[in-house]
Amino acid sequence: MNNRFNTFAGWAFFAAIIALGGGILSSKIFHTQRPEVMGYAIEGVEEDGGAAADGPSLSTLLASADIAKGEKVYAKCVACHSINQGGANAIGPNLYGVVGEHVGTGHAGFAFSDALKSKGGSWDFATLDAWLKSPREFAPGTKMTFAGLSKPEDRANLIAYLNAQGSNLPLPTGDAAAPDAAAGDTATTNDAGAADTETSNAAAETAVEG
Ligand code: HEC
Repeated sequence: MNNRFNTFAGWAFFAAIIALGGGILSSKIFHTQRPEVMGYAIEGVEEDGGAAADGPSLSTLLASADIAKGEKVYAKCVACHSINQGGANAIGPNLYGVVGEHVGTGHAGFAFSDALKSKGGSWDFATLDAWLKSPREFAPGTKMTFAGLSKPEDRANLIAYLNAQGSNLPLPTGDAAAPDAAAGDTATTNDAGAADTETSNAAAETAVEG
């Protein structure tokens, strides 16, 4: 009986030693094999939020914006807006000279929503960019039932077009964004051909006036 107990205790002790030793050993192995920076990059937050993947900035896009292309994008707005000087308010307010104007002021007493009226500030390029990306996110409760323009280039071209209708504020020159300057320049030259297609411009213009 006693012998048996000793044998049992011996094995149990032995097993405990093995387990302990194994634990220490494996922790050493895994410690030495673990890369220094592993484990924290998995979050993905930093990668997604990084500026590198976001493409050119708004000022870079505006520096090479194409007004003719912006006019084509504006075709999505004509159902609700006029943009000629003194044009009537429709479902949405007349947009003549809107760039630089106070948000939610408009012309000839358009009845803006409280959501937009309470917003404050004026329609500078960045504000318009945010508004046109998602009116609902910019001013929750707005009456402008327009989903938004997801492409940054479309928004920049459109803003340049809006700006050319009575506001004519100086657009960014792109000098501030040195790394992107080269890309911006090639875009301008590429777009020059498209800008010269007068027929499409004329078509868009009649659509705007109608
Ligand atoms: C379905 C109709 C509709 C469409 C389409 C639409 N809008 Fe609007 N827009 C409105 C309405 C309504 C308002 C007033 C919003 C409010 O009071 O909340 C408005 C307001 C605005 C304002 C604010 C004007 C000011 O004086 O504060 C701007 C700028 C604007 N729209 C630009 C555009 C552009 C550019 C497009 C095309 C990409 C567009 N909208 C498409 C209906 C529309």
